[in-house]
Amino acid sequence: MKRILSGIQPTGNLHLGNYLGALKRFVQLQHEADCYFCVVDLHALTVPRDPKDLREKTMEVATLYLAAGLNPEKMTMFIQSHVRAHPEASWLLECVARVGELDRMIQFKEKSKGKGADSVSVGLYTYPVLMAADILLYQADAVPVGEDQKQHLELCRDLAERFNRQYGEVLTVPEPLIGELGARIMGLDNPRKKMSKSAGSSANFIALLDDPDTIAKKIKRAVTDSENVIRYDPEEKPGISNLLVIYSLLAGESIPALEQKYQGVGYGQFKRDLIDVVVDHLVPIQERFRELQQSGDVERILAAGAEKASQVADETLSKMKDAMGLLPPSR
Ligand code: TYM
Repeated sequence: MKRILSGIQPTGNLHLGNYLGALKRFVQLQHEADCYFCVVDLHALTVPRDPKDLREKTMEVATLYLAAGLNPEKMTMFIQSHVRAHPEASWLLECVARVGELDRMIQFKEKSKGKGADSVSVGLYTYPVLMAADILLYQADAVPVGEDQKQHLELCRDLAERFNRQYGEVLTVPEPLIGELGARIMGLDNPRKKMSKSAGSSANFIALLDDPDTIAKKIKRAVTDSENVIRYDPEEKPGISNLLVIYSLLAGESIPALEQKYQGVGYGQFKRDLIDVVVDHLVPIQERFRELQQSGDVERILAAGAEKASQVADETLSKMKDAMGLLPPSR
């Protein structure tokens, strides 16, 4: 059985991009592979956070994992900082990574743009190495992510290959699993830029916990074009194409079938139907979310998950340390 690992940062609001590019796919993959899903709270520390907010968001993301359909009988979920091997393996891999390759990371360049070197944390720079540790500790064969994580995945593969060349075959080299559709959901207010948790305006995204009125408002205001023809053409018609992708993935209808269905129908009707599709999909998740919040089950599931994850991660960590020449503690 294939091993899979992925994670989501507990920052901002989880949105439809995170859901369609990652979480919804996690739910499917739990039936097909040996899956590990974490809430990557250590990654969230790379930019300043309010500690109380971080604690709340971490629980919120874990609860959303379950509300979206992840089943503790079928997969293992945990909080990254509960498994101590992650930062330790990250250090080992930092000694394998090269400054040149981290300098080339687009996300670092984007997130540090306009900020002086004295205000950007070292953690933001080494972040992709910690992400590689997350993956390699579980000997993951595949990593489901959205398109924006592709470069980080390539780095992870390079580090695994270099480690294996230098110290012997210890690490599995993982493949990225990027969906054909939904790997890059675009912002509703600007369909030429990806939907993002850190977008300046909440009109950019639909959060998984947005109420039906907010969802309706945001979809009604979503930027389209003036042609009033429902056709998938991401270059010429990025707005309507993005809405078609969201509709298709949530309703399970293909894009050509939707184009057919909406022939001769204007954007107004299409948007009204899309509002129903999104609300019908998200409201049950929100209801489960609230039930889970009351239940106390989430903490218990996370504790069991951390224990199981630690066993797997510790085994790989020991192999890495041994291969690199670090002595085990004497008994
Ligand atoms: P994060 O928390 O920014 O995003 C979580 C997941 O959502 C995907 N995603 C999108 N997919 C489609 N359209 C969008 N607009 C969109 N925005 C985000 C992301 O690609 C991601 O799959 N570095 C990672 C977290 C991480 C991780 C890992 C992932 C840390 N360690 C190990 C996989 C394996 C991140 O910041 O994702």
